[in-house]
Amino acid sequence: MNETINLLKSHRSIRKYKSDPIPQEYVDEIITSAQMASSSSHVQAYSVIGVTDQEKKKELSILSGNQTYIADCPLFFVWCADLYRLQVACEMEKTEIVSGTMENFIVATADVTLAAQNAAIAAESLGLGIVYIGGIRNQSKEVTELLQLPKLVYPVFGMCLGFPDQEPSQRPRLQTNLIYHQEVYNTSNTTNELKIYNQITNEYYLERTKGKVNTNWSKQMSNKLQTASRKHLRKYLEDQGFGFSE
Ligand SMILES: Cc1cc2nc3c(=O)[nH]c(=O)nc-3n(C[C@H](O)[C@H](O)[C@H](O)COP(=O)(O)O)c2cc1C
Repeated sequence: MNETINLLKSHRSIRKYKSDPIPQEYVDEIITSAQMASSSSHVQAYSVIGVTDQEKKKELSILSGNQTYIADCPLFFVWCADLYRLQVACEMEKTEIVSGTMENFIVATADVTLAAQNAAIAAESLGLGIVYIGGIRNQSKEVTELLQLPKLVYPVFGMCLGFPDQEPSQRPRLQTNLIYHQEVYNTSNTTNELKIYNQITNEYYLERTKGKVNTNWSKQMSNKLQTASRKHLRKYLEDQGFGFSE
């Protein structure tokens, strides 16, 4: 179709990197591309911490559930939702940001996600590989201390970047008719379509693991979703200034 669409459609997460550092001009381009993402009312409610220090990456790797590729990648980004700077802006105008609104929490979380995905695409367009790291929320308090995040800033996810040293196969996505609804949400065929997707993903897992992992998407989702994870988050977010009163 075109270069941009081809790039988007060739995405796969990369978890093994060459040791080559990422040139500074690449980092600059990635960050300025991230900054051009749309932002709710132009609040730009996010920050990103770039980590190259080996010791710090090692610590973040441990704090994120021993995901070794965090220590091994040349550059690790911690993407943060950020209302701190907006608080400062309000103070400059002798006003106060209303604290604890669910709306501002969603705004900041959406803003950082859009910026991060822009960065991911920019990085991939430069020949880099990336993987997002939700594991950064495993021990939010410790990550906050390590990165000296002020109140009203919280790490939403991390992102490893580096030149790929692997070529994994692509993960099959849900059928488009499950996620794209025309005019109204269509529930009439969800179960049947998911059965088809289960066959597709079962074949994918068998092939990827040379027959060792015999699972499918609904089994995986059910395993993941039957227990609540990261239950510390509500208290952590309250402590960080994101208490939900409104
Ligand atoms: C917000 C977010 C958090 C993620 N966290 C992790 C993680 O902690 N560790 C990991 O190996 N992959 C993580 N991933 C990568 C997903 O597992 C991956 O994107 C998904 O399985 C689809 O595979 P693909 O990116 O190769 O197409 C995360 C992805 C997202 C979007």
